[in-house]
Amino acid sequence: MKEWERISAHSHILGLGLDENYKALRKADGMVGQTEAREAAGIVVKMIKEGKFAGNAILIAGPPGSGKTALAIGIAKELGKDVPFVHIAGSEIYSTEIKKTEFLTQTLRRAIGVRIHEMRKIYEGKIESLDIDYVQHPYNPYQKIPASATVTLKTRDEKKRLKMDQSFAMQILQQGIEGGDIIQIDVDSGRVVKVGISKDAAEKKGYDLSYERVLDTPSGPIVKEKEFIYTLTLNDLDMMRSRSGMDIASLLFGFSERKEIGEDVRKRVDEEVKELVEEGRAELIPGVLFIDECSMLDIETYAFLNKAMEQELSPIVIFATNRGITTVRGTDIKSPFGMPLDLLDRLLVITTKKYSSEDMRDIILARASKENIKISDDALNYLVEIGENSSLRYAVQLLVPAWEVANKNEIKKEHIERVYKLFSDVKRSVDYLQKMEKEMIYG
Ligand SMILES: Nc1ncnc2c1ncn2[C@@H]1O[C@H](COP(=O)(O)OP(=O)(O)OP(=O)(O)O)[C@@H](O)[C@H]1O
Ligand SMILES: [Mg+2]
Repeated sequence: MKEWERISAHSHILGLGLDENYKALRKADGMVGQTEAREAAGIVVKMIKEGKFAGNAILIAGPPGSGKTALAIGIAKELGKDVPFVHIAGSEIYSTEIKKTEFLTQTLRRAIGVRIHEMRKIYEGKIESLDIDYVQHPYNPYQKIPASATVTLKTRDEKKRLKMDQSFAMQILQQGIEGGDIIQIDVDSGRVVKVGISKDAAEKKGYDLSYERVLDTPSGPIVKEKEFIYTLTLNDLDMMRSRSGMDIASLLFGFSERKEIGEDVRKRVDEEVKELVEEGRAELIPGVLFIDECSMLDIETYAFLNKAMEQELSPIVIFATNRGITTVRGTDIKSPFGMPLDLLDRLLVITTKKYSSEDMRDIILARASKENIKISDDALNYLVEIGENSSLRYAVQLLVPAWEVANKNEIKKEHIERVYKLFSDVKRSVDYLQKMEKEMIYG
């Protein structure tokens, strides 16, 4: 499952909707009701931001459709972009090609950020002119290949002509860099990044809508030392180190790939990070690993996570479940939430409660307005009733199909009735199958 699919049902949630004293507003940031759980989550966010929570774990427990996943998304939004937030579903652990423990280790390391400060020597300026020299391809008479490039860079105070090699020329072509763009060239590695397009070039092109960053031509010298701050995760660093020839500069050009990483690589990364931190060139940011539907985890996984949380470097783990007392997978022991007791010991539990019909109404409305869906009062009342009888999640899920059935006009009660018949909720489909089974056996 891709990240966007997983969160699309929660796209109306922009935060926890708390005031400056961490009190929940009844309706804010797309959040409605569930006051205590939101306030508890707010305190968790505060502790995480202050770095006081590493190695701890939280469990969000509550009935289906009571906003557990929504709450976790709200926490992620409050933490901001710099704090890693990794969202997995319990069942994913079994569905990857790599070993379970390897998957878990990588996932945990994706949830720990390293904010690196680095001084790098760069050329920076607007491209005033750009010439690429081509030579004949050695084997193919019909093809020419770039051999070198001459580029004139300009700032408001200086102008410089640079003669660059083939690899530079290739990068320019690959990234579609052209005159008027503002670029940075890393002196040590020779790598090029386009930071944006200059104001005058943007005006000349006359785009009405453009996704490029429009920037002022930089001032000062063309060659300069500049501080770069970027947040990577330990897993990013592991990946870089496990590919030869990669260094920190290469992260300016993202990549991602999933494969097994050797323990020696991780050890080396840990040592390097430790050094960077001691030299004051990096800070560690413990992020959050959110494991949704954790009733899918088995005893081995829990043991692994429990041990990981005791390590010096560990993210905050947030579990969510809608199970009460149930067996721990892989054992025949019953325990609260199906979690082993030693883990339960270190958990802070946030419970979510079933929604009042008023809250449900507001949540359905929030979803509808996010999707630009219009719905009549009748239809809304009926959806709330459905939400109360089965689950809010199911009621929310019916919105888009009903909108389709209504031909993207205002949803009326009959449209809801139609999709209610067409799409079954879990309880009805299970009842149906059980009935069928009986009929097949006895009938
Ligand atoms: N307090 C809330 N404010 C706004 N929207 C909410 C709130 N609670 C839940 N929702 C929305 O209602 C829908 C159902 O909630 P959600 O999926 O978070 O429930 P859940 O507790 O995770 O359910 P499950 O146990 O089935 O996983 C989602 O679209 C969610 O974004
Ligand atoms: Mg959920």
